[in-house]
Amino acid sequence: PRKIRTHTLRDFKKEGRAITMLTSYDTFSASIFDEAGIDVLLVGDSAGNTVLGFDSTVYTKHEDIVRFTGAVARSCERPLVLADLAFGTYQVSVEEAVRHGVELMQAGAQAVKLEGGREVLPQVEALVRAGIPVCGHLGFTPQSVNQLGGFKVQGRGEKADALLADAVALQEAGAFAVVLELVPAPLAARVTETLDVPTIGIGAGAGCDGQVLVWQDMAGLSGFKPRFVKAFADLRSNLMRAACEYGDAVRAGEFPSPEHTFEK
Ligand code: KIV
Ligand code: NA
Repeated sequence: PRKIRTHTLRDFKKEGRAITMLTSYDTFSASIFDEAGIDVLLVGDSAGNTVLGFDSTVYTKHEDIVRFTGAVARSCERPLVLADLAFGTYQVSVEEAVRHGVELMQAGAQAVKLEGGREVLPQVEALVRAGIPVCGHLGFTPQSVNQLGGFKVQGRGEKADALLADAVALQEAGAFAVVLELVPAPLAARVTETLDVPTIGIGAGAGCDGQVLVWQDMAGLSGFKPRFVKAFADLRSNLMRAACEYGDAVRAGEFPSPEHTFEK
């Protein structure tokens, strides 16, 4: 199967073929999602929550994402590897944005994602000029949770036009795609119709060009199940059962049995 590139995703939009994206931060999930035909693996700063145990992506470090990006890139062939620019790595200056973007690319990413609209256009333009494809991220932007006042749907009512204008500005600055998070479905559909580049929704309805979920939510491992999440498996129960049975077997003296034992 041919490697997915940013241009492939634009072709998918033209063909009306939905783009599939999942987060991934480690070798096994990356190889499984590759085999499953997922198009884009997002090494998201959600790793701060899903891997490192923080309650916000504000605490995710650039170095964490660099390390996880390497793991994912080494473990998949076909998917496009998209890595998040962490909180604080692009807000200070255009120079810092490019430097951190370069580090993500050298770790194995084929593109980077940053949050925000018109306020980050200089960064988007500079990254694209440096040869780094950029994905935008609008609507609820978790790195700004303290500013936004919690996990809330964005772009409602009179704020809709501003979100659409941000999306158009990101496209004009050279973004190859835009993630729409927690946006009313009619607005997400309007953005999707307006843009030539694909939109990838999370909590933004079926009218986007593709969808993304955090993999531990998708697989029922996290137990995080807000309205916009569907758990397609019950990994939490499965893993729980395995760990309980392992513990019981060890305590009962049933594991290891002779077949798991070296006699000499
Ligand atoms: O970090 C992440 O998982 C994300 C997705 C929710 C889009 O940015
Ligand atoms: Na993110």
